[in-house]
Amino acid sequence: MRKKTKSRQKSAPKKSAGKRATAKATKAAKATKKVVKLATRAKALAKSAKEAKSVKKPAAKKAVANGLPKPSAKPFGQAGKALEGIRVLDFTHVQSGPTCTQLLGYMGADVIKVERPGVGDITRTQLRDVKGADSLYFTMLNGNKRSITIDSKHPKGKEILERLIKHCDVLVENFAPGALDRMGLTWDYIHKTNPRMIVASVKGFGPGPYEDCKVYENVAQCAGGAASTTGFREGPPVVTGAQIGDSGTGLHLAFGIVCALNQRHRTGRGQKVLAAMQDGVLNLTRVKLRDQQRLKHGPLTEYSQYGEGVAFGKAVPRAGNDSGGGQPGWILKCKGWEEDPDAYIYFITQAPVWGAICDVIGRPEWKTDPDYATPPARLPRLKHIFDTIEQWTMTKTKFEVMEICNEVDIPVGPILSMKEIAEEPSLRETGTVVEVDHPTRGAYLTVGNPVKMSDSITEVKRSPLLGEHTDEILGKELRYSAKEIAEIKSSGAITAPEKGTRAEAA
Ligand code: COA
Repeated sequence: MRKKTKSRQKSAPKKSAGKRATAKATKAAKATKKVVKLATRAKALAKSAKEAKSVKKPAAKKAVANGLPKPSAKPFGQAGKALEGIRVLDFTHVQSGPTCTQLLGYMGADVIKVERPGVGDITRTQLRDVKGADSLYFTMLNGNKRSITIDSKHPKGKEILERLIKHCDVLVENFAPGALDRMGLTWDYIHKTNPRMIVASVKGFGPGPYEDCKVYENVAQCAGGAASTTGFREGPPVVTGAQIGDSGTGLHLAFGIVCALNQRHRTGRGQKVLAAMQDGVLNLTRVKLRDQQRLKHGPLTEYSQYGEGVAFGKAVPRAGNDSGGGQPGWILKCKGWEEDPDAYIYFITQAPVWGAICDVIGRPEWKTDPDYATPPARLPRLKHIFDTIEQWTMTKTKFEVMEICNEVDIPVGPILSMKEIAEEPSLRETGTVVEVDHPTRGAYLTVGNPVKMSDSITEVKRSPLLGEHTDEILGKELRYSAKEIAEIKSSGAITAPEKGTRAEAA
């Protein structure tokens, strides 16, 4: 993708003499108000300074430092990681929970993934591309973690888990409702064993009629309002490829955990954190709940169905590729669309750059034509406008359109294929797409930390093999002796049963 060459700074639009005078007067009035405000604030400050003199020194010191240590003298990026020292007992599987714990790992937490002996996370064998090696489904969601195998229903396994609960700060799980309790790991037990422990869960639904249901990605997309509002008006509801139910909820949970860790600094105790997938999806679809309420007051004029004269029903309709915001947009064909399914561009007719759009597409007369000059005038004509713009975009590649439009600040977005994203050098440079080496499957691409921090630099590490760190965690962390580890091994609590391991999943 080409870099934008033009500075984003723009000069203010020219005003008429009358408007200039009014603006001057308003500015002067504002300035007077500001002076009065400043004087009042200065008086208040002087008063509080007088009062402060009578306050004892330690309190003033505490207020200034806000309880924080002195700023580190180490260069940025060399003072450790954001979540360094936080230990996560990771009971997650499939996608939603692992997304959350991988993010915590990227931020520096020590993530200990507990897996069933001989089986592990079901995704290790799902959608396998390399025979005998962990699948990409697993490897791309479980980097920066250690793996220990424990049969959580075995008495010895329960004993190890108790030590781990005492040892860790956060337990994260996304089992089906009730599964954690059935293992004996109830909130009451965990809280009693380690009152500082934060217990974080992903579930399909929050409390209510569906709370006991098992939920996968697309169920959440449907129940959270995303599917009914995605797709074309004439077609059925559509689910999106972005995993807003799984990865989206994992992200919400990670946010909850970090907040609970912060609250624990004050209270000294852990708490339960719940992210329901229906809630997570709805949170990401909130603009459609906005539109549902707007419907009471008339048609949704920015939806292209308004311009097409199609009446609105009682619920928010599917809006195809309409922009969903106040600036109309649509996906348009570009040069080569006949052969390349991704030769398209998203084009936004942002009002402030309407003049530039008219010039670029060769319709300068639209700048002054009353049918096109203003946003309200354009709304009923959006289909014709986008058809006309498309006549122009079809003469250029999506990257040429991007370059020409960016020069004049028209917001556009090329439809990038996954192949193009995988090969994009700038994403490699920022660490958003990372190549990781793996002992059994060889190098693979993963998505690095999407959040970049100047003082907590992410180092992406490969996913662990099943039980790769069992001995290390039992010995070094949990202080079991070599003799005890040998006993644990022979008990069957951390090793696979001879028969009955799960068959390879599809
Ligand atoms: N040792 C012993 N048993 C273990 C174990 C271990 N280390 N790890 C898991 N198990 C057991 C559980 O205790 C459970 O047994 P039980 O039902 O007899 O009590 C069993 O494995 C299966 O767990 P479950 O969560 O029910 O898995 P599932 O494959 O049947 O269902 C989901 C998968 C995703 C549908 C379900 O976990 C779920 O709804 N999770 C919450 C929502 C969610 O996160 N969905 C998105 C997934 S990306």
